[in-house]
Order: sequence, then C-alpha cells, then structure tokens
Amino acid sequence: MKIIGTGSAMPKRTVTNAQLSEFLDTSDEWIVPRTGIKSRQVITDETLQALAIDAAQKALTDSGLKAEEIDFIICSNVANNYVTPALSAFIQEALGCKCPFVDLNGACAGALYALDIADAYISTGRAERILIVAAEEVTKFCDWTQRETSVLFGDGAAAMVVAKDDSPCYTILTGDSRYKEVITYRRKLEKTPFEQEGQAVDQPMIMKGRDVFRMAVLCSQRDIKDLLQKANMKAEDIKFFMLHQANKRIIDAIQEYLGLPEERFPSIIDHTGNCSSASILLLLDEVARSGKLAKGDKLMMSAFGAGFVTAAAIITWGHE
Ligand code: UT7
Repeated sequence: MKIIGTGSAMPKRTVTNAQLSEFLDTSDEWIVPRTGIKSRQVITDETLQALAIDAAQKALTDSGLKAEEIDFIICSNVANNYVTPALSAFIQEALGCKCPFVDLNGACAGALYALDIADAYISTGRAERILIVAAEEVTKFCDWTQRETSVLFGDGAAAMVVAKDDSPCYTILTGDSRYKEVITYRRKLEKTPFEQEGQAVDQPMIMKGRDVFRMAVLCSQRDIKDLLQKANMKAEDIKFFMLHQANKRIIDAIQEYLGLPEERFPSIIDHTGNCSSASILLLLDEVARSGKLAKGDKLMMSAFGAGFVTAAAIITWGHE
C-alpha cells in the first residue's frame, strides 16, 4: 500500500501565545520552552465539515483519481457538532464519491487506526483506493478559563489517499484502558424522563499532562522499536519520522532515544498546536508540499492519545 495524495485545510484565524495571555494567566515564555507552540489556527466562523471536505478534495485532486474510484472513506474525528451523521457522510456528498464511509474515534492516534483499517481492506482485496481524512476542532473541547489545557490545542483537517501497491504497510496498535482517565472530555446528551439526576455530566477536557507526557515518550519509543523489528528495517531506512504533534519536547525525547538527527523528525507544532488526530496528516501534507519526499520513501508515523491508545505505521510515499 502506498500514499498517492495529500491535502489539508486550516481555519483562517491565527491565535498567538501573546493573544492568549490577554485573557489567561500564561505567557509566550511559559508556553514555548515547555511545548514548542508559538501559535495555532482556531475555528471561528468555519465549520469542521467544510474544512474536512476541503482537505479531502485537495487529497483526491492530488491523487489524480476520480471520486468514483474511491472504494471507502474513513474519517478520524473525536467529536464535532454533528453527533450523527458522520463527518464522512458530508465528505462523500461533497466529493461525489459512491463508496461506503465511516468515522472512527481513535483519539489523537485515529488517523493511524484509519490507516491500519485501510491496510486490512486493501491487503485482503476488499478495496483498492481509500480516502483517509482526519478533522478535529479540539479548541472546542477546552475550558478556556483553564491555562493547563487550552494553550495546547489547535484546529485543522487533513487527508490522504492510499492505494494498493506491492510495498507492504506495517502497523502496530495498542490500547491500555487502565489509563483511560488521563484525558477525558464528557458531554451531556438530551435529557430523558428515565435517567437519574446527576447521571449526565458536562465536563470540558481534563488532562493529566505529566502522566500523558511520560506514557507518550515510553510508548512511542516502544512502538517505533517494535515496528522496525516487525518490518525488518533499521531506523536509517526511514526517511522521516512523523510523530504526533503534541509537544516538541516529546518529539525531541523520542529523537534523542533513537539517536537520529533532528531533521528526520519534521515538526509543525510551532504554528499548529496539537490538532489531535489531524496532526500527523497535517504534518505529512506540509512535508509533501515542501518537496522533500521522493517516490519510494519510507515514512514512520507514531501517535498516542486518550484511551490510552497508541499506534505506529511504516508506509511508502508513492506520489510521483
Ligand atoms: O494529544 C494529547 C496529548 N497531550 C499531551 O501530549 C500533553 C503532554 N504533557 C505536556 O505536554 C506537559 O505536561 C504540559 C505542557 C501539559 C505541562 O508541562 P509541565 O512541565 O508538565 O508543567 P506542569 O503541568 O507540571 O505545571 C508546572 C507549573 C504549574 O504551576 P506550579 O504548580 O508549579 O505553581 C502549573 O500551574 O506551570 C503551571 N502552568 C502554567 N503556567 C503558565 C500550567 N499550565 C500553564 C500555562 N501557563 N499555560
């Protein structure tokens, strides 16, 4: 399986750290050294549906395929204003695809869960070309009076088209629900005459940042090592390590563990913040646009997120 097209779409509003410090007890001096984040794009009057469609359309155009050639649309999304139908329904309609579609919630690792499913479909002959979209509006999960979480996140949508090819794709997925409380975000649904008082809870995102940091570093290091072994490859065989963009210090710790040069770990977090599952596909699209990828390059992707879930993949860049 190989990647044959990418695309992305960002909200137009840029919010700098200095702008956050106008209403939060925070500062650029605190945020940059601890996270690497200088600014993020934040949804204002856009809809996530529109961003997801824009990213998906760009990836489809980039792939050179027609809408009817897509066999499946898989969209990674933690939450958006529509509980149902899925974001992928809007994408199918706007692009004019005729295939089935589904959304999944694999937290920040969702795009790699989608990639794993795509590989299962393609390697068993159930599909030949799959559109993967990751779209997130994480800024809407935060309590904007809480500096601990709100400074970390941004919004965005990105997509890639993967297609059947001789190059194998390798993936690892893990889940450890003992740590499901390290990141939580709870929403009330509609009130019924039957539920008990106090049963439904509206709770903006709460994160145990230090626990997540520690687990992220350990798990990503483990996944990358295990996946290289599974693929019988060396770190030197990988052109770029595309890691979840949650904190530059997490990326640096993994890079130092592997003992590889920083330029093999491209990063966009300085201008995007953490866009949850959209992060890795946003990074992929930005690196692709910069012209640094050549056909046949092997890419390692690795992500972690609420659950606690992790995922890693080695995939071939197949664009001309
Ligand atoms: O994709 C989702 C995954 N999430 C992550 O990957 C997050 C992983 N964790 C992290 O990135 C880091 O733990 C954080 C950036 C969230 C926090 O950094 P830290 O170095 O672990 O700081 P801390 O939480 O231990 O807080 C240190 C201090 C505290 O003050 P005191 O108790 O020492 O007086 C916090 O209240 O920094 C304070 N603080 C802030 N100060 C200014 C926390 N957030 C802020 C802030 N601005 N935004």
